[in-house]
Amino acid sequence: MRALTLEPGTAGSLRLTDLPDPTPGPGELLVEGLAVGVCGTDKEIVQAEYGWAPPGRDRLVLGHESLGRVSTAPEGSGFTPGDLVVGVVRRPDPEPCGACARDEFDNCRNGRYTERGIKELDGYGAELWCVEPAYAVAVDPALGHLGVLVEPTSVVAKAWEQVRRVGERAWFEPRRALVTGAGPIGLLAAMIGVQQGLEVHVLDRVETGPKPRLVDRLGATYHSGYVEEVASGLQPDVVIEATGVGDLVFAAMGNTAPYGVVCLTGVSQGGRRTRVDAAKVNRDMVLENDVVVGSVNANLRHYRQAAEALAAADRDWLDGLITRRVPLGSFADAFEAGPEDVKVVITLDGGR
Ligand code: BGC
Repeated sequence: MRALTLEPGTAGSLRLTDLPDPTPGPGELLVEGLAVGVCGTDKEIVQAEYGWAPPGRDRLVLGHESLGRVSTAPEGSGFTPGDLVVGVVRRPDPEPCGACARDEFDNCRNGRYTERGIKELDGYGAELWCVEPAYAVAVDPALGHLGVLVEPTSVVAKAWEQVRRVGERAWFEPRRALVTGAGPIGLLAAMIGVQQGLEVHVLDRVETGPKPRLVDRLGATYHSGYVEEVASGLQPDVVIEATGVGDLVFAAMGNTAPYGVVCLTGVSQGGRRTRVDAAKVNRDMVLENDVVVGSVNANLRHYRQAAEALAAADRDWLDGLITRRVPLGSFADAFEAGPEDVKVVITLDGGR
């Protein structure tokens, strides 16, 4: 079978590799890969800025936003051949820490968790892959190829859950949300915000292309102005930050409504300094009981929430998020940014 592999830490090492077909371990499913989504983390791994090969090996199979069709399933696994599935990204650390012991591996404390396609476990960017049934999420057949959006949606389902849980430490009835960044994470966060009945605003730099249209079609409001102006005018109760841009993060923090919750989801590189009036940010946060919460990854509960959110969404709208589908043989094209890109997907089944 063909797989998309690279040597973490070595730029330019991404290539198609012929690997022996995998043999499922006891109880595991064998899955025919249909598609993998490409996200910022994949690009960082390709640029040798992130990622770890499995112990004792140089190369890692890339791909963590999966979609596949079950090929073989052991009896009692809860799956049957033909089922559409998504593989969960993270596995608990082997010790395990208190969080991993309670299935909250997305909040792992000792950093010894592993992640498929990212950290020490092969990913899903292969024509065949195996997965433990406990880490396989069934996808509604009606979603079809859109199931590849389950993983990024799980990340925002977690973010929204964190916002609610933080907010519910006292009276919390948020009305207005600002999402910064109209990439797939921002747009899916906006989708869930709208589903929850909030007035949603999305801020991004671009003024044309699919992003403003997608925001519009969601019934949300698109902005492309300066973050300070937009945020201070809106005074959002909730901000979902999906750019990781330092200036934006602090501007968002400084311009929420009282009791505002800012949830940070963008993994930034660091190394760029920003001038911040830290004392003012502190003063505002204290006097308004504001909270800033970071959120990464997702546990099984969030995958289920994601599958529900996608099932309730408009299929055409979701389809509009996937702006390019690149066959595995042309994988390099998927890592070249296109002007109209939102979500780029690599198809693994020859586009069948
Ligand atoms: C993935 C998460 C993962 C994070 C850090 C993201 O792109 O969606 O599941 O935890 O990268 O590795």
